[in-house]
Amino acid sequence: FPILERSIRCEDGRERPLVYMDHGASTHAPRPVLEAVMQLMTRHYANVHRGNHTLSQEASDLWDEAILQIAGFVGADPAKQVPIIVGNTTQANDLAAHLMENVPGRVLTTLMEHHSNDLPYRARGRVLHAGVDEEGRIDLEDVEAKLEQGGVKLLAVSGASNVTGYMPPIHKMARMAHAHGARILVDGAQLLAHAPIDVKPVGHKEHIDFLSGAGHKAYAPFGAGFLLAPRDIADQAAPYTPGGGTVKWVTAESALFADSPDRHQGGTPNITGTIALAAALRYLERIGMESVRRHEQELVRQGLKRFAELHDEHGVELLGPHKPKEWKDRLGVFAFLVPEYRHAGVSVRLDRHYAIATRNGCFCAHPLLHRLLRLGDTSQYTKAIAAGQHVELPGATRATLGLYNTDHEVDVLCDAIGAIAQGKHDGPLRKARVVPRPGQESS
Ligand code: ALA
Repeated sequence: FPILERSIRCEDGRERPLVYMDHGASTHAPRPVLEAVMQLMTRHYANVHRGNHTLSQEASDLWDEAILQIAGFVGADPAKQVPIIVGNTTQANDLAAHLMENVPGRVLTTLMEHHSNDLPYRARGRVLHAGVDEEGRIDLEDVEAKLEQGGVKLLAVSGASNVTGYMPPIHKMARMAHAHGARILVDGAQLLAHAPIDVKPVGHKEHIDFLSGAGHKAYAPFGAGFLLAPRDIADQAAPYTPGGGTVKWVTAESALFADSPDRHQGGTPNITGTIALAAALRYLERIGMESVRRHEQELVRQGLKRFAELHDEHGVELLGPHKPKEWKDRLGVFAFLVPEYRHAGVSVRLDRHYAIATRNGCFCAHPLLHRLLRLGDTSQYTKAIAAGQHVELPGATRATLGLYNTDHEVDVLCDAIGAIAQGKHDGPLRKARVVPRPGQESS
């Protein structure tokens, strides 16, 4: 990973090696992925399936291989489940919402989701939300109860939470959905590059009908994502973005649309991004997804232990399932609160003093944060924001781990959090209460 050669000049003037812990937001590419991009751009660059010249055919072959690689990586049969290339996970979920729009029924999602796996369905009809417990785990009894009420066509759930790292039992939920005649969509944004995924054969009780994911969270560049969708449903739906590449034949009066995936891939797709995504998936396969997972689990085990100490010594609160014994079922996602410090202040201090890259805020998952932060009634926020007032949003600071993070870096992070909690870096940065509510004076 060439990015590991980066260092950051810190506030004390020292250069420190970058400790990148923002993999949940986006990942860096390893050299084989960068080489695949260079190779395409310098040797084979051409539009795909639109030309008979040599470069177009070479690029088309690389593209076709990439599509098969994406399907194969999660055990899908492309004859029955078609990978459709889009820009990112939000668009993939939006495409699923579109494909399912004319199927009668409602979408059931959960209060654990990032907005990408909620708002696209809300844009197309009434959505039900299953609840979560105080640590952000999905209430499976509520899922079952809502399925039992009938009329659910799609259960949409993330394979892992981008806030808590909690991994819901997706195959059990697939079984639950299918038993009630619903399909299941798993949002794989966070899961794809962190744990093995097997969508299982079509017709299997635990089959995952739809799977979404994106390259930029799986060690490939921004701009290419995919939806794996049931071919029958995809072929029946109207084209998502009618236009170039989506048709068989067009007259001034009519258009005959192609089958999937072309039907829904209006315009030239992100060819470079898709080929890079396939290269990244091949890279992960060479390491072995079981090894990838084991490495992350070890870091989680160490992190949970260190966060338990930070809690006892400084009152640092880790959101989500946080007991040390929970290391097995969690991704390397640590969203935390440092008493008396705002989430942005913690993130800035980690960056400026330790070269540690984290994210802070609500992580595009406001309803889940409301629950985890125990905000209760949030109507004051809604009113103040709708009225255009400046409102400091509540939130947390989040460190998310990836392939190249080490146990040493987990220690660097936790030592740094301990130092911040003790006020070591207060200087000109303001120390303040965590969540000043609208109307409350902030100190
Ligand atoms: N969904 C991404 C995150 O969790 C952007 O940071």
